[in-house]
This record gives sequence, C-alpha cells and structure tokens, in this order.
Amino acid sequence: MTPQQPSQQESMDVIVALKKAEKMRIDFVANVSHELRTPLTAIKGYTETLIHDIEDGRKIEPEFLKIILKNSNRLLSLIDDLLDLSSIESGADQLHLADIDLKEATEHVIERLIPHAKAKNTLLTSDIRCDTVRADMKRLEQVMTNLAENAIKYSPPSSTVKIIWEEDGNEIVLTVEDNGPGIPSKNLDRLFERFYRLDKGRSREMGGTGLGLSIVKHIMQRHQGTVTVESEIGKRTRFRCRFPRAAP
Ligand SMILES: Nc1ncnc2c1ncn2[C@@H]1O[C@H](COP(=O)(O)OP(=O)(O)O)[C@@H](O)[C@H]1O
Ligand SMILES: [Mg+2]
Repeated sequence: MTPQQPSQQESMDVIVALKKAEKMRIDFVANVSHELRTPLTAIKGYTETLIHDIEDGRKIEPEFLKIILKNSNRLLSLIDDLLDLSSIESGADQLHLADIDLKEATEHVIERLIPHAKAKNTLLTSDIRCDTVRADMKRLEQVMTNLAENAIKYSPPSSTVKIIWEEDGNEIVLTVEDNGPGIPSKNLDRLFERFYRLDKGRSREMGGTGLGLSIVKHIMQRHQGTVTVESEIGKRTRFRCRFPRAAP
C-alpha cells in the first residue's frame, strides 16, 4: 500500500495550525516577560530607595521592606505556577490514578480554605452525592482548591460557595458555585487562557497569577475530562468539571 498524500486542504490546515501555535508561543513569552517584569521593577525601585535612605542617614521605611517581600512572593508564585503548568501540559508529571474518596478529599480542601473563607465571612459548603472518582489525588485537590479559592476571592463578603459532587451518566461531575458578582458573557470564552483576568490590578493585588484556571483546564484535559463555566451577572458563577467514570 502506498502512503496517501495529504490533500491541498489538509496541508493548508496544518500550516494554519502551526502558524497559530507559533503565535501563541510568541504571545506567551511576551506575557510571561511582562508578568515577571512588574514585580521585579517594584523590587528594584524600592531597593534603590532604601539604599539611598541608608547612604543619606535617613530612617528606613519598614513599609518598603514589606512591599519588597510581597513582590518577591508574587514572583515565586508566578514561577511555581508556570513550572506546574508546564509539567502538567507536557505530560512530564505522571498522573497517579486511584479511586479517590470524594468526602475525604473535599474535606481536606475545605479545611485548608477555611481561614480564607472565615476572613471574608464566606459560607463554604459541600454536598457529596457520590463516593469516588478515578483521578490523581494531588491534581484533583488542586482543581477544587483553585476553583473554590477563586469563588471566595472574587465574591463579596458573606457570600456562599458550594462544592458539589454528583454522577451524571458516564461522568462524575464537580460543581463549584458562588453567588458573587458573576462574569460578563463576553469574557467567558477567554477565561481559561493563561494570564487572562477580568481585572488585572485587582487580581494581582490579591496575589493572583492569572494561571489558576489555565491549570484547571490542563488538569482536566490530562484526565480526559472537561471544564466549563456559566455565569449570570449579579447572581452566580458556576464552574463544572466532568471526569469520565472509566479510567483515562
Ligand atoms: N468565581 C469567580 N467569580 C468571578 N470572577 C472569577 C471567578 N473565578 C475566576 N474569575 C475571574 O477569572 C480570572 C482568572 O482566574 P485565575 O486563572 O484563577 O487567575 P487569578 O485568580 O490568579 O487572577 C480572575 O482574575 C477573575 O477575574
Ligand atoms: Mg485564581
């Protein structure tokens, strides 16, 4: 049998896909550089000011040191998230699949988020309507944490955040829902892109890297599952993750 030549249309499709991938790579490098530059510029500026203050015999402003520390932590979070995203995406990080006890995993996640929730007087609830899901424990907890943390962060004080696990045909479904401000429908398409944020300044101020949802998307892809979002302005945002019941 002679191998079939690709048609002209197929060759064109490959070229278009390659060009798109190349553009995404270039955009990503530009975005990463910009994201790293912002905290580094602050660290440089405040360090220079401190050096001048010391040289001129002025009192050191402790507030400046706090700003330097905050921006150093931002850089570390960014680099940690970038490394994490790259290992999930490339498949370098093997998934350790097991039948995860959903009650236990959800309680574990809630326990860690309670301080954040309490600080905002947010009610964090769970409703576990099925027993297990076939997944990687660490990555599953990361999905729940990223979604619930966002729900707490972007909703006003005294909101309610629900984590729900249920079965739907051949899928095990995680829903994380809040009754916060909602997300305009025009922004929903781009929400899972790296560094995409509705309000860059506000996200950065709250220590966000803009990579949380992108990490969720790639973890779900590695599990051969999906993540979707629906939202109603002024009412709610609901993220839904679907895991195939059978092992990927
Ligand atoms: N539950 C939510 N309610 C409102 N906006 C949200 C919610 N979850 C995510 N977002 C928006 O999506 C953006 C991207 O989220 P994410 O990737 O986790 O990045 P980060 O939280 O670091 O900004 C956030 O900056 C925010 O604008
Ligand atoms: Mg986030």
